[in-house]
Amino acid sequence: MCTVVGYIGKSFCSTFIFEGLARLEYRGYDSAGFACIDSVNKKLVCSKASGQLSNLTESLKKNPIDGFTGIGHTRWSTHGDFSRNNAHPHFDCSQTISVVHNGIIENYNILKTQLQSSGHIFYSDTDTEVISHMFEFFLTSDTVLPRVVADVVRLLEGTYAFIVMSQIFAEQLLVVRKKSPLCIGIGDGEMFIASDVIAFAGKTDKVFFLPDESFAFVSKDGIHAYDFYGNELLVEIKSSTVVFERSEKNGYEHFMLKEIYEQKNAITKTVESLSRSDSFLCDQLGLSVQALCDIQKICFIACGTSCHAARIAQFFFESISQLPVDVQLASEFRYKSFFPEKNTVYIVISQSGETADALEALRLINTHGLHTIAITNVATSTIVREAGGFLLTCAGPEVAVASTKAFSTQLAVLYWFAHRIALEKKLIESNDLSQAEENLLTVATILESSLERYKYEIDHVQARHYACYDKAIFLGRHISYPLAMESALKLKEVAYVFAESYPAGELKHGPLALVDNTMPVYILSHQDSLIYQKLVSNAHEVKARGGRLIVFAYAGQKELCDLAEAFFVITHDVPPLLGPLAMIGVLQYFVYAVAKERGCPIDKPRNLAKSVTVE
Ligand code: F6R
Repeated sequence: MCTVVGYIGKSFCSTFIFEGLARLEYRGYDSAGFACIDSVNKKLVCSKASGQLSNLTESLKKNPIDGFTGIGHTRWSTHGDFSRNNAHPHFDCSQTISVVHNGIIENYNILKTQLQSSGHIFYSDTDTEVISHMFEFFLTSDTVLPRVVADVVRLLEGTYAFIVMSQIFAEQLLVVRKKSPLCIGIGDGEMFIASDVIAFAGKTDKVFFLPDESFAFVSKDGIHAYDFYGNELLVEIKSSTVVFERSEKNGYEHFMLKEIYEQKNAITKTVESLSRSDSFLCDQLGLSVQALCDIQKICFIACGTSCHAARIAQFFFESISQLPVDVQLASEFRYKSFFPEKNTVYIVISQSGETADALEALRLINTHGLHTIAITNVATSTIVREAGGFLLTCAGPEVAVASTKAFSTQLAVLYWFAHRIALEKKLIESNDLSQAEENLLTVATILESSLERYKYEIDHVQARHYACYDKAIFLGRHISYPLAMESALKLKEVAYVFAESYPAGELKHGPLALVDNTMPVYILSHQDSLIYQKLVSNAHEVKARGGRLIVFAYAGQKELCDLAEAFFVITHDVPPLLGPLAMIGVLQYFVYAVAKERGCPIDKPRNLAKSVTVE
């Protein structure tokens, strides 16, 4: 979640460091910091600010510092508040060793107590600060640097990617990695270090991905890498094709709004790319045609919105490919008993491809020799590199923290894949697959036209009206239940409304006690007539208790709409399994407008980050 960047070379470091931090700021924006070895007096100098990177940029304009070696950081707080004091870099007692860190040192409390009892003075509440003090401690008794690093990492528990810059070894930067991502871009007489290649895309295409549980000394002309036992490692240089696309709002007030409107194109691009993939599909999936045919079960693993996409896709695979499906939250999966199953394909869904819980779940499954497939939006992500195969969404960069177009393109990929497996299993014909692709394109258009249809009304009436409520209940049944979960999540994270979702049938088993005339209850309908009738009954139950009913329905569902004080209808014909995809645009726009009305920082909600690289 935090970002670390470093530079050593022939140019002043601040240019790359601030550009790199800005490109990766989506990973955390609680505070920012920059340190360098001053180009004149060769001393370590540092500047920090709480809040977004722009605060640090402003403060540096007043008091500029620069040098040829430097490190930078943006923080997503884990230990200690957002204050400037807790901003990285952190130092040792002598202020000659500085550290920026992404991850969590789980045993920092024990280490801190030990260091304090031997006289070290701490200045922050962070877990990170123990690292700089430990280097100070070990460097007093040993000068062989790889041995010192091996001594330090032997004592550190948790996950980390950190960069150490010190006056003691001023001609190099030390980078250390356990689980959290870290890579080094190799330039001509300069090295770029970052949590993600996107930070130095365009500056070099030569990359060394630091292996797990290893460290390296990086000078402007070379890299010496070691495992945690101090054995030297081969530096394997890879070629990166990552291109940095600067995301602009292009006249939209927020990235979230822009991304809501990009969904039609993103789904179209995704479907086109999938339908072109046939000749290399098996290679990309890492499965033979026979293995595709032999799949007997699908297990999805994901977090947050990606997990909601999986829960909706469960209905695709069960009904179209006739496969049983299991959906697991990655953060829970890792700590449950695991019963590996033959002919089961484990699909990890992650927009960023870097989510720590999803990545660790993937690694656990990989250790059992089972087949894994990643569905992500970032072709160069760690999850793609470590999975047995992959399918990509073509959503383009998603900047707003709240996922919108990544979610809808995940649904498109999953709907397509369910058909593709069904075709291999001879459950459908190839023209059914073409029809499915056609349906996805049509529904992408409906998604946009439906939100356009209601935009004015939402902006001028509904948003203002519902922005006053601090709580909400979302109800759905069957495939509209995971859509209710997704809608509640969006309202929580973007508009700071306490929103809960329930399968509508569960209402009477407890949550109904919450319903009175101060409770907005959102019912997300379904096209199946039996399920629809049950939802109508649930709507009556809410209305009888004075609940404020808001309905999202389909054409012909007048009875349900008549019960509501506000309703939104998808008027076009939509295949029932694609109902959630058609409806998501209006729901997202509704949340966006309520959040705007409530004055929320829509693109960067408090306490969150776009890429969640800690567990
Ligand atoms: C919510 C949201 C998050 C992410 C979750 C997983 O709008 O974006 O819930 O879906 O953090 O992230 P990825 O998909 O990158 O693994």
